[in-house]
Amino acid sequence: MTIAGRRSAFATLTGERKSGLILAFMADTKLIKEKVDIVDLISEYVALKPAGVNHKGLCPFHREKSPSFMVSRERQSWHCFGCSKGGDIFSFVQEIEGMEFSEALKYLANRAGVPLDNYRSEIGSNLRNRIKEINENAANFFHNFLLKMPAAASARDYLSGRKVKPETITEWLIGYVPDQWDLLTNWLTKKGFAIDDLVASGLTIKKADAVSGSMRGYYDRFRGRVMFPIWDTHGSVVGFTGRVLVETENSGGKYVNTPVTPVYDKSSVIFGLNRAKSEIKTKDLIVVVEGQMDTIACHEAGMKNVVASSGTAMTETQVKLLKRYSQNLALAFDMDAAGIEAAERGILIALREGMNVRVIRIPDGAGKDPDECLKKNPEIWFQAVKNAEDVMAWFLEKATKGRDLKLPKEKQMASDIFLPKIALVPYAVERDYWLQKLAETINVGMDVLREDLPRFRKNPQGVVVGRKQVVSSVPEKTATASAPIEMTRSEEMLEMLFALLLRFPKVLQDYWGKLENIAPVLSTSHYANLYFEAKKLYNKGNILDLEELHKALEIVENGSEMMSLLGMKGDLLFQDFDDRSAMQEAEALFNQIHADWLGARRKQIQLEMISAEKAGDKDVVARLMNEFIKLV
Ligand code: GTP
Ligand code: MN
Repeated sequence: MTIAGRRSAFATLTGERKSGLILAFMADTKLIKEKVDIVDLISEYVALKPAGVNHKGLCPFHREKSPSFMVSRERQSWHCFGCSKGGDIFSFVQEIEGMEFSEALKYLANRAGVPLDNYRSEIGSNLRNRIKEINENAANFFHNFLLKMPAAASARDYLSGRKVKPETITEWLIGYVPDQWDLLTNWLTKKGFAIDDLVASGLTIKKADAVSGSMRGYYDRFRGRVMFPIWDTHGSVVGFTGRVLVETENSGGKYVNTPVTPVYDKSSVIFGLNRAKSEIKTKDLIVVVEGQMDTIACHEAGMKNVVASSGTAMTETQVKLLKRYSQNLALAFDMDAAGIEAAERGILIALREGMNVRVIRIPDGAGKDPDECLKKNPEIWFQAVKNAEDVMAWFLEKATKGRDLKLPKEKQMASDIFLPKIALVPYAVERDYWLQKLAETINVGMDVLREDLPRFRKNPQGVVVGRKQVVSSVPEKTATASAPIEMTRSEEMLEMLFALLLRFPKVLQDYWGKLENIAPVLSTSHYANLYFEAKKLYNKGNILDLEELHKALEIVENGSEMMSLLGMKGDLLFQDFDDRSAMQEAEALFNQIHADWLGARRKQIQLEMISAEKAGDKDVVARLMNEFIKLV
């Protein structure tokens, strides 16, 4: 496409006058792509392993057991052969973060250090970006207020009373807002933020009788509270939690949070993850505590792989977010009935996701939560984390504790409690191990338990419906719901064959000639252009120069994209192949494609013959007959 053509295509979207902007924009996105390494970027979400010149991993956009997700550094692109999604860094961030394009652009530009002055207004036009900016300003406002204002003395005393160090206050941008009606709202409107945006950010509350255009009827959500910014994993402030200094009858909840906004949903954010993520990867362990103060205290004590669930049950979204960084989870939660129940829901989700879950127990008398335990004796907390117990053992103990396991009814009850937990584990060997433990503990045969287990493994989604126990399944957040393109069997085999031929060009040289035999399949396939170009080159000297083929395809529509996809596919499927296995595979594929085509063609001929006979067209019948015989 020419530049002019491109420009007009964009112009229909954004208006002719902006075309200068669009050219600048295209230059910027190109620059960002050059500066952000796609493998580094995607590695933050997916464990990638080198596969040939590409990288492969488990697709984050659909459930799979073996990798079909490929990333090409050379072409700065990604593609999943399982669900057919693919694209560049921008589309990846959009998909995985559920961001709109302009947000992904802003995030990646920041990361690349590319200024986006050219279209600042475009970015500002996005509500989510505006809210993040408001939050950023509010966080600084609260923080400065805490540090500098006389009216924050009580808050400073409170924090030092809780032994929070000054460095910690700075690091976590802890702040304070005095008990006034609209201090923040006023300050932010004076800075030029629109009142509607402030309401959208959750920082300002609009009363029913608010007068638009005036400031009447608007007030601050957070008043008289120590303020903790909540960041997303990229370090944008998406919300706040505020704690009262002293709990009184009319101080409201001990903690108040930002409500659901376009950038914040309590159920999908993990407090502290942005600070903990790199240490989580290094330690390969996620420590989850309940409170913000617990998290902060752990980091202060040097344990930095700690995040908070913020006092509620972990959701599927949160578990999946954590799972990006490690498979190993250690949880500390309040061991009272309510605490256990809330923790259990999150644990079941994590088990279903195949994570290794451990339970941290703070010994009696060592403090009611990690924060208290650390203040009393840090060593006890460190030991408790180290000695965390496998959650399955913990469940088994809970299911059998206090029962007279000689009684059949009690055996049944213990088994009814523990079996659904086993059923969640997605790995057969592990399931078997726990079945055996259960069998030993309640003294019944394994066969009996194995027989009972499927009762709890009904739903293919892994949602277990046992007695009274339902793991609620949060609908998965998928950025786009585009259905995977179904490939036909022959297209799929052609894809494999070409991937193989391109990977072993020398060994499989002859196949470029043999392709002639399946020409009818090829010329109507997705790979027609590739076939024709290869044929031209091959016929020149009965040899195919791959470099020339690449060059030839660069000018064919979608040609270079196709070559890169085939390269990825080759890395995915044939990485471990040697010459011999490559030849065997090529022969098998080729023969199968050929056989399929023969079968289909014969069927077609028979149908054509029937209608030709009906029409009494003897010439056609004879010709078809001839062809049929040749095919047999
Ligand atoms: P501190 O008293 O500040 O140490 O808090 P804590 O973490 O010890 O409190 P607690 O064990 O009572 O609660 C654990 C977590 O639940 C808190 O950190 C909050 O995230 C959350 N939480 C507690 N109280 C409230 C509340 O009143 N409202 C909301 N929304 N969340 C709360
Ligand atoms: Mn506490």
